[in-house]
Amino acid sequence: MTQPSRQAFVPFVSVDNMMRLVLHIGIEQMMVDLAAEIEADFRRWPLFDKTPRVASHSDVGVIELMPTSDGQTYGFKYVNGHPSNMKKGLQTVTAFGLLADVATGYPLMLSEMTLLTALRTAATSALAAKWLAPQGATTMAMIGNGAQSEFQALAFKAICGISEVRLFDIDPAATRKCAANLAGLGLRVVPCATAQEAILGAQILTTCTADKQNATILTDNMVGSGVHINAVGGDCPGKTELHRDILLRAGIFVEYPPQTRIEGEIQQLAPDHPVTELWQVIAGQAEGRHDPRQITLFDSVGFAIEDFSALRYVHSRLRGTGFYQDLDMIADPDDPRDLFGMLLRAQAA
Ligand SMILES: NC(=O)c1ccc[n+]([C@@H]2O[C@H](COP(=O)([O-])OP(=O)(O)OC[C@H]3O[C@@H](n4cnc5c(N)ncnc54)[C@H](O)[C@@H]3O)[C@@H](O)[C@H]2O)c1
Repeated sequence: MTQPSRQAFVPFVSVDNMMRLVLHIGIEQMMVDLAAEIEADFRRWPLFDKTPRVASHSDVGVIELMPTSDGQTYGFKYVNGHPSNMKKGLQTVTAFGLLADVATGYPLMLSEMTLLTALRTAATSALAAKWLAPQGATTMAMIGNGAQSEFQALAFKAICGISEVRLFDIDPAATRKCAANLAGLGLRVVPCATAQEAILGAQILTTCTADKQNATILTDNMVGSGVHINAVGGDCPGKTELHRDILLRAGIFVEYPPQTRIEGEIQQLAPDHPVTELWQVIAGQAEGRHDPRQITLFDSVGFAIEDFSALRYVHSRLRGTGFYQDLDMIADPDDPRDLFGMLLRAQAA
């Protein structure tokens, strides 16, 4: 019996191997690299297939599929969001994803994406802030100190030059965990007792909380002129973090409007409320921050192209590392039309 072709074996990046790869590259370096990949793909945004992600909602959470293609490579991510998971000892967000060759449809790589999502989300947030935040920003408030929070803090350090993070979470244990994890990583870390305290002196306000409802993490009076808001946690219908009045005062920047209008903070606004697409700012087709006193808001929900960039980056870094296993994933009989015969021969063997 001849062996399946090479393409029948799909490199699989397990959680264990992803951790090895990230630590091999360096956590901050990997987010710098991911931001560069995402930026490069945002510059060629028009050639990607784009669709709002396909969401299956339940009372407790959502399961989503996020596909895209650049015509040569196809990618998708499976991701969930279950705020109640944490109380059960489970992750709020878990994910895995796949890259495939458009020419044959054969998969190129299957990968864990829970860690990769945290890295790419933080890289995207910091990339947006690089283009939108006030010049010389040094201090970030980090409201919501869960799974994403340390990644956010480190990405803003590495990409935007943030030197101080001011932490707040309704659960002090989350703040303690975040502060302990960030200790010794080159940031001044200030745990705070309230959200008001956390935003004191901060030029960048990151909200990254999880709640299956419309929450008000920031009220209008908390947001002074000239700040940049990085709103990460509002990413589903009925799940927002900012008071509507803040949105009315802010220049709003989004990933893909048809998805963000369903899922982002702007679901609170009229469907034709003006927003700017981040890729257009990066490609020089739209203005970013136009005034030091302007409030800029990156209404982040997470878009498929960011996952595509992240998967392609991981794929490009796999060669020669050994940080993957080959999965016998694609049935590939010698005679492509003899799928049934392959099964019969396995019975005989
Ligand atoms: N935009 C994106 O691309 C993107 C990507 C990944 C995750 N997310 C979203 O980011 C959010 C955070 O994800 P996570 O994995 O860190 O979740 P997590 O459950 O690990 O952490 C969320 C934290 O928010 C805290 N929190 C809840 N309500 C709060 C409030 N009112 N004030 C302050 N803190 C509060 C919780 O105590 C918890 O520590 C989720 O809503 C998730 O869906 C968005």
